[in-house]
Amino acid sequence: GTPDTRTPTGAPTDVPPTAKGQQGAFLTTANGARLRDTDHSLKAGPRGPILLQDHHFREKITHFDHERIPERVVHARGTGAHGTFTGYGTAEGVSRAGFLAKGKETQVFVRFSTVLGSRGSADTVRDTRGFATKFYTDEGTFDLVGNNIPVFFIQDAIKFPDVIHAGKPHPDREIPQAQSAHDTFWDFVSLHTEAQHHTIWNMSDRGIPRSYRTMEGFGVHTFRLVNEAGETALAKFHWKPKLGVHSLEWEEAQIAAGVDPDFHRRDLYDAIEAGAYPEWELGLQVFPDTPDETFAGIDLLDPTKIVPEELAPVQAVGKLVLNRTPTNFFAETEQVAFHLGNLVPGIDVTNDPLLQGRLFSYLDTQLTRLAGPNFSQIPINRPHAPVNDMLRDGFHQQAVHAGVAPYRPNSLDGGNPFEADDASHAFLDVPVVVAAAPKIRENPASFDDHYSQVRLFWQSMTPVEKEHIIRAYTFELGKCYEQVIKERQLQCLANIDPVLCSEVATGLGLPAPSPTQPLAEVEPSAALSQVGQLWPAD
Ligand code: HEM
Repeated sequence: GTPDTRTPTGAPTDVPPTAKGQQGAFLTTANGARLRDTDHSLKAGPRGPILLQDHHFREKITHFDHERIPERVVHARGTGAHGTFTGYGTAEGVSRAGFLAKGKETQVFVRFSTVLGSRGSADTVRDTRGFATKFYTDEGTFDLVGNNIPVFFIQDAIKFPDVIHAGKPHPDREIPQAQSAHDTFWDFVSLHTEAQHHTIWNMSDRGIPRSYRTMEGFGVHTFRLVNEAGETALAKFHWKPKLGVHSLEWEEAQIAAGVDPDFHRRDLYDAIEAGAYPEWELGLQVFPDTPDETFAGIDLLDPTKIVPEELAPVQAVGKLVLNRTPTNFFAETEQVAFHLGNLVPGIDVTNDPLLQGRLFSYLDTQLTRLAGPNFSQIPINRPHAPVNDMLRDGFHQQAVHAGVAPYRPNSLDGGNPFEADDASHAFLDVPVVVAAAPKIRENPASFDDHYSQVRLFWQSMTPVEKEHIIRAYTFELGKCYEQVIKERQLQCLANIDPVLCSEVATGLGLPAPSPTQPLAEVEPSAALSQVGQLWPAD
């Protein structure tokens, strides 16, 4: 084979971030020539003009001019930390993923984020939070790219540009910078009633976490797990914070946004520097892999639905400890690139149409954001497993590949490395049957119920949580200019709960409409109000 000359174990920890940039006692050019003066440009006499031949001036200014890379199109505002994941071995029956084995330690990098605000926006705005984890496993990198809310706004990835266009600031005024307090957001969620579930989570205290350390995380989609025997199960991933789930009061969130826009970033950094390492348990809800991919009547491929924990308890499978802050924000937090397609043996995707679209989107956007196809060679993105791929050349290629042309089988290049491989450690796509079905652009009927789980969420809240939700809808809708949008959203609230609707209507000074469909009969879920319950007393 033609081994990749990249350091296979080129982990961010073993590569000092200063490796190329800050060696030796002297200041030099980028090419290592020692500098005499970096404070004055080369001029024709003390009064100028500056000479074009001043290479040091041009190098210094040119590099500065290109310091910024595009911010992420969503989740631009974030903060990261390194840590360790330790498997409990309790997932052995359902997944052969090596990092879940008992006592196995794996390095991780986590990036927390808001979704809608730009890179410089405030931390404590009402929004969903990203919770993306890169596990540098021996079997390749596994990325769990989740949120702090277990459902999503849309059921099909083709709607993602639409929901984000609606949620981002108005194109003419660029306001609001980071909140769901405007016409296009409420226009979208009232016209696309599948968004009502995610929206009520946003309007609840979950939309204003106290700290990243006190947030749950969710993989949202259902994944397919495979064990040693090749048996499959469906599963949802959960992160449960050891500190429990805590939120800010809305007034606190607003004050913090002004007084300390870096509130969450500072909190995470300070906690880790002080040795108060935040911890989460990774948990799994496991379901039988039946042909209809439903559980208790819930379509597991619908990303706007949860499975209540009373029906499928979350089982702890490992522990995450964040114990090291980044050395360099740009090199680590900014350049990290997550992708749902970064899977390891034992974990596979399902046909959830949102998940399927995400598999395309992240790689595509990173080609622009990180300028070319070689961003897996950036230190923070390098796998901690040996790399021997057939990818060659391209912008920012760091490896010096040897051997003849990379194609397989190849009789000139020492044989076929696949034959030498122990296939039991390779990733195998689960041969799920794809039904003979017509090509269509429509959702299954099992995606049609947009209200019963929203009502379940509302019913599960305590009185004070309900009060917060009413106040949040009233505040955010109160920022809309268009009355027709407020009225349409009130109609959606009527279909969730009459009390919720009438309280918000009163706050807005508008009449409360009647429901347009029968209210779902749901039992309140204990799990939604009592969170962070996995942790046993140590
Ligand atoms: C970024 C989560 C749906 C496109 C992110 C990030 C998270 C996330 C956590 C930030 C990653 C980081 O910290 O660097 C989710 C979740 C989703 C979802 C949980 C639904 C369950 C989608 C969909 C699309 C999409 C449907 C597109 C079809 C993107 C893009 C980025 C992003 C383009 C920026 C990535 C980058 O620049 O590196 N998402 N997302 N997301 N997401 Fe999603």
